[in-house]
Amino acid sequence: MIGIFDSGLGGLSVLASITQSLPHADLVYFADTAHVPYGDKDDAFIRNRVLNIARHLADLGCTLIVVACNTATAAAVASLRETLPDIPTVGVEPGVKPAVAATKSGRIVVLSTTSTARSERLSRLISQHAGDVQVDVLPCPGWATKVETLHLDDPGFAESARQHLAPTLDSGADQVVLGCTHYSFLTPVLEPIVAGRAELVDVAEAVARQCVRLAGTAEHGRGRLTLLATAHPEALQAALPALGLSWLATRLIGAARQVSV
Ligand code: DGL
Repeated sequence: MIGIFDSGLGGLSVLASITQSLPHADLVYFADTAHVPYGDKDDAFIRNRVLNIARHLADLGCTLIVVACNTATAAAVASLRETLPDIPTVGVEPGVKPAVAATKSGRIVVLSTTSTARSERLSRLISQHAGDVQVDVLPCPGWATKVETLHLDDPGFAESARQHLAPTLDSGADQVVLGCTHYSFLTPVLEPIVAGRAELVDVAEAVARQCVRLAGTAEHGRGRLTLLATAHPEALQAALPALGLSWLATRLIGAARQVSV
């Protein structure tokens, strides 16, 4: 069984890619909805949540754990690997490397939570891969919450996102890295904003490929999905159709359940 977790709905974008790449694996998706968003919390808080959730997933029998959250990966994946050294883990980091490879203008922008934006891990990723490419890091406070509330077609939000991105696009950024898994669900809002000027870069498929490499026997299950949440499990399940993921619901082995971890 593979355990995949996020603060809330964002990691469902990663879950969708993993399901497509490993259709027979049994998957558990854990949303820490009692504590979403992580992006405005401090590192110690996020680390504590990550370790508790990962231990819970390990106790359920998960043999691979996916931190489907850039914020949690930046703050805690190193501690997680130290704490549970026997369980392989896959983290999610902004697609700086593919964006640097694809840019023609020599300028890219990473959209992320405030926590990821200030993280040492992102600075290191940029210094390792950017070379002479200029990287703008643009925190987007409130965007993950917009996804959580499923207010995705709010014209006011589209306008504020346009204004938020305008300076970096006007400066020539031609790759817009979605550095938070929630932002995948904002693609319909962001596409028209960047159209003709920049491309969106999402790493969900790359993460799924890494899961295929590390899945081992977890690859061979019955293709079942379990949904767990620390608050409002019914809202997690109801979000599937709202996010265009009804097809995942057919894999559910029961209703989403609340767990306290
Ligand atoms: N989905 C998460 C990420 O990838 C975190 C969003 C949040 O909880 O602030 O960063």
